[in-house]
Amino acid sequence: MTVLVAYASKRGSTAEIAETVAATLRREGLGVCLERCEDVRNLDRYDAVVLGSAVYMKRWQGDARHFLKKHRKALRQKPFWVFSSGPVGDPAKDNPDWIEPPKLAEKVEDLGGKGHAVFGGCLPAEPKGMMEKAMVDGVPREYRDRRDWGEIRGWTKQIASELVAVPS
Ligand SMILES: Cc1cc2nc3c(=O)[nH]c(=O)nc-3n(C[C@H](O)[C@H](O)[C@H](O)COP(=O)(O)O)c2cc1C
Repeated sequence: MTVLVAYASKRGSTAEIAETVAATLRREGLGVCLERCEDVRNLDRYDAVVLGSAVYMKRWQGDARHFLKKHRKALRQKPFWVFSSGPVGDPAKDNPDWIEPPKLAEKVEDLGGKGHAVFGGCLPAEPKGMMEKAMVDGVPREYRDRRDWGEIRGWTKQIASELVAVPS
């Protein structure tokens, strides 16, 4: 059983989530390939897929959207899960905390996706450009990294248990 963990990350924090997902799956005894979305040619050698993307301006990264489209036929044949990495800021204050990227849920459901997790995101320590700087300035320091590693590992262990329960 080999699982592909594919991700699209602009500033690296989603890549770190994908690394944790991959490491957790390995610890659970599964074979894992960790790849950037853009580096994946086809899904032939994989039995299952976990796809993750950072969210910017309420949209998944283009490479992740392209991945869903390019590999749609293969994805229909395999168990797959997706995650988004996005919300930052004070969860008690920021409203709305999470806005689903348009049509994402429909696309994932249409392809038979088995689940979509939304993980807290992380703003870069050294923001570049006006948009990032404005975003970082507007978020108190303690809420700039809302990644919950326990939550990420827990979600991944659930995937591992579902995968080992089905014959490959
Ligand atoms: C300019 C900008 C726009 C963002 N827009 C959204 C958004 O629409 N929704 C969301 O949940 N998070 C948004 N975020 C937060 C990012 O998704 C979060 O920082 C994410 O972890 C970045 O992942 P990366 O480091 O892999 O690029 C935004 C961040 C920045 C800097």
